[in-house]
Amino acid sequence: MNKKATFITALLLVVCVHNSSATLGDIFAWGVSSSAYQSEGGWNAEGKGESIWDTFTHANASKDNGDESGEGYKRYTEHLPHLVELKVTHYRFSVAWSRVLPKGTKGTRNNAGIQYYKNLVNELKSRGIEPVVTLYDHDLPQALQDVGGWKNNSIVDVFGEYANLMFTELGDSVKHWVTFNEPAKEALAGYEDGTFAPGLKESANSSYEVAHNMIRAHVRAYRLYQNVYKATQKGLVGINLNADWSTSMNSAAQRGMKFYTGWFADPIFGNGDYPAEMKSSIGSDRLPAFTQAEITDNGGSSDFFGVTYGKTYIVSDGSNDQFPEYSYANDMDITLTESQDSVETSLKGVLKWLKMTYSNPELYVFDGGYGDCGTLYDEDRIQYMKKSMVALRKSIREDGVRVGGYFAAQLIDGFDWTEGYKVKYGLYHLELGNKERIQKASARYYMTLIENKGEEFSYPAHFVPDIIREKDIFLREQFPRNFAWGAATAAYQIEGAYNEDGKGPSFWDTFANNGGLAFQQTGNVACDSYHQYKRDVQMLVELGVSHYRFSISWSRVLPNGRAESLNQLGVDYYNNLINELRANNIVPMATLYHWDLPQALDDIGGWENETIIDYFNDYARICFEQFGDRVPLWLTFNEAYVVTWLGYGIGIFPPNEHKAERGVYNVAHNIVRSHVKVYHLYDKQFRQHYHGRVGITLDCDWKEPATTGAMDRYAAERALQFKLGWFANPIYGNGDYPAEMKHSVAKKSRDQGLSKSRLPEFTEEEKKMNKGANDFFGLNHYTTQYIRDNYDNRNNYEGDQNLYTKVDDCWPGSTAGWLKVNPWGLRGLLRWIRDRYNNPPLFVTENGVGDDGTLHDQSRIDYYTKYTNEMLKAIKWDGCNVVGYMAWSLMDNLEWTSGYTVKFGLYNVNFTDPARTRTPKDSARWYSNLVRTNGYN
Ligand code: GAL
Repeated sequence: MNKKATFITALLLVVCVHNSSATLGDIFAWGVSSSAYQSEGGWNAEGKGESIWDTFTHANASKDNGDESGEGYKRYTEHLPHLVELKVTHYRFSVAWSRVLPKGTKGTRNNAGIQYYKNLVNELKSRGIEPVVTLYDHDLPQALQDVGGWKNNSIVDVFGEYANLMFTELGDSVKHWVTFNEPAKEALAGYEDGTFAPGLKESANSSYEVAHNMIRAHVRAYRLYQNVYKATQKGLVGINLNADWSTSMNSAAQRGMKFYTGWFADPIFGNGDYPAEMKSSIGSDRLPAFTQAEITDNGGSSDFFGVTYGKTYIVSDGSNDQFPEYSYANDMDITLTESQDSVETSLKGVLKWLKMTYSNPELYVFDGGYGDCGTLYDEDRIQYMKKSMVALRKSIREDGVRVGGYFAAQLIDGFDWTEGYKVKYGLYHLELGNKERIQKASARYYMTLIENKGEEFSYPAHFVPDIIREKDIFLREQFPRNFAWGAATAAYQIEGAYNEDGKGPSFWDTFANNGGLAFQQTGNVACDSYHQYKRDVQMLVELGVSHYRFSISWSRVLPNGRAESLNQLGVDYYNNLINELRANNIVPMATLYHWDLPQALDDIGGWENETIIDYFNDYARICFEQFGDRVPLWLTFNEAYVVTWLGYGIGIFPPNEHKAERGVYNVAHNIVRSHVKVYHLYDKQFRQHYHGRVGITLDCDWKEPATTGAMDRYAAERALQFKLGWFANPIYGNGDYPAEMKHSVAKKSRDQGLSKSRLPEFTEEEKKMNKGANDFFGLNHYTTQYIRDNYDNRNNYEGDQNLYTKVDDCWPGSTAGWLKVNPWGLRGLLRWIRDRYNNPPLFVTENGVGDDGTLHDQSRIDYYTKYTNEMLKAIKWDGCNVVGYMAWSLMDNLEWTSGYTVKFGLYNVNFTDPARTRTPKDSARWYSNLVRTNGYN
C-alpha cells in the first residue's frame, strides 16, 4: 500500500470513528415496556386489593376487563424467554400499587404481592436484564379513590409511603424508577372526559387538582430517594410524560405543548412552576398554586425525562365559544387537526423541543406503541418502529439530543385502556383463553434492530413474507386472453326434485330427511333447478361467463348406484341442461361426485368398501357415454378431503363415521384409486373421440407458518401435505403419498406399537398409474390458517400431523364460521401448487364467501375483488398457470349442514317463494363487469 492510500484510509477511519461515536448502541438502553393492569391479570389474586381500573371495568359487565389480561401475575416467568430472545437490556414494568398495599396505605402491606415483584426483579437480573420500574400506571387503589383519590391532598404523603416501601424492598436491585406514567392522560381522561378510571366527567378544574397532587407526589418520591436512598442504592428517578407534536411551531402550537407536556414538565424540569401560558389562561382561581418552597423543591426533581410521543397535529388558535367553559380545551384554546406527518417528523420535533425548552435533559423514549387488530405479520408496526429509529438517529446526530434509551411498546398483547382487547400493541401475540404466545414479525424486527444497535439494516423478506408485504398493492392488469370465467353449483345444493322421475336417494337425502341439517331443512326442493335450469342458464348469460360448473347426481342417473338401474329421465335432465348451455355458448364443466353417494352404495360400505372403485367407474363410463360429446371438462370428485374427513373422520357429514385413526386413510386410498381408474378410462376410450380433459377438485386452505421459525415452516408444509398432498401427490406429484405424510404416520404407528403404518401403500403398478393421471388441477379455496409445530398425542389423522392451528385476529369473519377472509392466502397456495406439481394448468373451481343473502352484498364484492386480484398477481408476478375461475356460487343454495342459513350466491333465491325467484345481487353486476373487462383497469 502506498503512502497516499494509507493516508486516505486513515482519513476514512477518522470519519467512520467520528460517525460511529454517535451509534445508538453505545449509549442506548434497549428496552421494552409493559404495565401492570394491562398484562398482569390476577386482579384479586393472593391478597391483591381492587384498583380503580378493576372497579371501572367491572361497572360495565359487557365491557372487557383486565381481570386476567396477560396472566402475567401467574405466569410472569413465561415473559422472560421473550426478553432474552429480544436481547433487550432493560425491561420496564409497573407495580400495581394495590397488589403491594391492597388499600393503598402502608398499614395494609401484602407480602405475597411484594414477593411477586421481588421474584420478577431477581429473574430479570439473573438474565442480565435491568428492571425499570414504574410506580404508578393509572391503577390507583380503590380504597384511596374512596377517600378522594388524587384530589385529596393527603395522597401525597400516602404515595410517599408507597414509594418508600418499594425503594426499601426493591431498591438494591432496581436502578431506574419512573414515578408516574403519562399522568396528563389520566388527569384528563379520568376526570374530565371519563374514558379512563375513575370515569369522572367533571371539569378541567378537577384535572388541574389531580395533576397538582401528582406533581407533588412525584417530587415527594424524588426527594425521598435523594435524601435516603441515593447514596447507597445509586439509582435514578424520573417521570414519563406525554408529548404530541405540531406541524409548525406557531404560538398556538407552543401553547399546546405547554398545556400538555409543560403542565408537568415546567414544574419538574423547568423553573418549578406551571407554564406562564397556563397560568394566564386558566387563572389563579382554577389552577392550583405551588408555594414558593414547593417551586424550589419541584425544579430539577428528575434524573431523566421519559417521553411518550404521540401524534402530529395542525394547530391553530381556537375561538372561545368553540369549547365548553371550564374545559381544558377552552383553557388551552387551540384547534387541532390530525396531520398525516409521519412519526418520524413528530418524534424528531418533540425531542428537539424538549432539548431546547428544558436545557437538554437526558431523554428516555418510551414508544407509545402501534395499535392494530393483532396480526402476526405486523408490517405496519415495523414501519412505525423503523421511522422512530430514523428520528432517533437524526435527533442524536443532527440535533444533539441526549437519548438514554428506547423502549418499544409493548411486550405482549394485553388490555388496552379504552379499547379493551380490540386493539393490540404486543410484539408477542397472546391468545386469550389458551394463552398461546406467538412471536410477531415486529419482534423479529426489534431483535435485529437491537443487534444492529439501532442502525438501519436492509429490511429483509424473512420478517414478513412477500405475499403479505404485497397484499395492499392492487394490480391493475388484464387476465390472460381466453381466461375461463364461470360460476359453480352442485346437484344436491340446487336441484331439489329429490324423488322425482325415478331418482334414487343419496345419503344426503337420507341424512337431511332424518333431521340432520340446521332447522331440519332438506334439499328436497332446494333451488328447484331440476325444473328451473333454463333460468339458471339465463343467469349465466346475464353474467357473461364462458363456463358453468355443475355436478351430476349419481342416484338421479343410476338410482341404486349401479349401471343396471339407468334412469332415462335423469339422463334427459342433464342432456337438457347441457344442450341449453351449449345453445347459449357456455362450456359445461361437470363434476361426477359432489358428495351425494347413492344410498344403496352407502348400504354396502360406501367409500370404505373397495368395490366402490368399480361402481364409480361404471357410473363415470355412463356419463362419458351419455354426455361426453358435449362436455369437454370433467371433474371426478369435488373436495376429496371433505368426502373423507368430514364423512369418515369427524363424521359431521354422511355417512357420519368416526374412523379418524385408520378408516379415513382407507377411504382416501379408494378415492384416489377411483379417480385414477376413471382418468385412464377416459384417456383410453373417450379422449380420441371427444378431446376432453379430466381433473379432480381438491380443496385446500392456505397454511401460513405462524412464525418464520424453521419448525413452524416445516409444520405448515406438513399441514399442506396432509391436506392437499394426500390426494395431489399421487395424482399430480410422484404417484405416491407425500414423503412427510408417510414418515409421520409411520412414526406415530410405530410409537403406538403397530407393526405396520396406518397409511395404506400403493403398489408400484398403482404408483405408475397414479402419476400424471390428470389433465388439469381443480382447486377450491376459501380461507387461511396459521400453523405452528405442536406435538399432538392423538393417534389419528389429526394427531399424526402434530400441529397447532389458528387464525389471524385481523381477518374478517363471515356467516360461515370456518371462513375467515384472507385474500393473500390464495396467492400463497397457487405458488405452492406451482412449485410442488410442476405448475399444472389450474382452474379455481370454487371461491367465494357466505353472508345472510342480502342483495347489497358489498362484503362479497370486496372478497371477490381481493381474491381475484391475488390470483392475478399469482399469474402475472409468479407465473402460475391459472386458466380459469368459477365463482362459488351462481346462486344461494343449500349449504350442507348449515341448510339455508349461509348464502354464497351471486343471485339471491327466495326460498319461501314456491317459484324460487332468483334476483341478481350487487355482486352479480360486479362479477359480470369483471368478466367483461377481463381484469382491472
Ligand atoms: C365447498 C363445497 C361447496 C360449497 C362451498 C361453501 O366446500 O364444495 O359445495 O358448499 O364449500 O361452503
